Amino acid sequence: MFQLMNTLRQASLTADAVCFARALEHLRPPEARVIDDPYAQLFLHRPSRALLRAAARAPTTREALRASSFGLDMAAVITARHRWIDDQLLAALPEVGQVLILGAGYDSRAWRLRAPLQNRPLVELDHPATAARKVRLSKRAGLEPAPSLPADLAREPLIEVLTAGPLDGSIPTFIIWEGVSMYLPREAVTTTLRALRAWAAPGSKICMDLWIPASGLIGIGARASQVGLKVLGEPLRFQIEQGEVGDLFSACGFTLTAQSSAHEVAARFGEGAPPVLALALGTSTEARP
Ligand SMILES: C[S@@+](CC[C@H](N)C(=O)[O-])C[C@H]1O[C@@H](n2cnc3c(N)ncnc32)[C@H](O)[C@@H]1O
Repeated sequence: MFQLMNTLRQASLTADAVCFARALEHLRPPEARVIDDPYAQLFLHRPSRALLRAAARAPTTREALRASSFGLDMAAVITARHRWIDDQLLAALPEVGQVLILGAGYDSRAWRLRAPLQNRPLVELDHPATAARKVRLSKRAGLEPAPSLPADLAREPLIEVLTAGPLDGSIPTFIIWEGVSMYLPREAVTTTLRALRAWAAPGSKICMDLWIPASGLIGIGARASQVGLKVLGEPLRFQIEQGEVGDLFSACGFTLTAQSSAHEVAARFGEGAPPVLALALGTSTEARP
């Protein structure tokens, strides 16, 4: 069994951090938002809620927070990747019958994209501690939580969890794996991709982000953000050159069918995200191994 992250005994703090970036984005004027996630604010831990309140009172606090998060404008990176994944999912919907969100955290696509999803099953897999907190807070807010597959992937093999879960592996699936690969050893990333490839029907798609090594000033900022992640208990473990993502996918049975970067996506919206994140869509076109 592969090693994922340290076993978490409490809800993920990186899930809180990325949720905070989306809540912060929701404070911007509607026309300026790269994504609009009105649900993010519901799931924040108390310190993030206090920061959000401060940001809501003073726009300068908001801009300062955006610009200084972890030493880089990671908020722009996080919202750009979320937007890109939304766009890939919406474009792929005619071809897929269900959605799996792996390491879902406080993802709100089940609610935000309810209309375009048109009753396609959407299942969220996450560590039991984060999954339970999300279900509890959803219900408290009067929201019906998406079907949840609580599993500690550091202890339970993904293929077994998926096979026992509510989704049907014979239906082409859109799999979202957002904000997770960078915290895993390389071997865990490839093991996860191979397990997804073995479980998911041909025509399934995997949409994910990968950390790219940065140099110069960005590299210094990126190293500072790594210290921040370590403090949150989920240190950065896996980086890959953007040009190598296709090889990683093909080694695991997926074909790279679309690629971008958070930097490029943010630039489309006039934002300045540092070039630290590759965005990739892979499709499994052949029969299962
Ligand atoms: C940075 S968060 C990303 C959350 C979400 N995908 C997003 O972008 O908002 C990483 C997620 O991986 C989950 N995770 C970490 N270790 C895990 C494990 N051993 N088993 C299952 N999920 C795990 C955490 O609970 C957390 O929700």
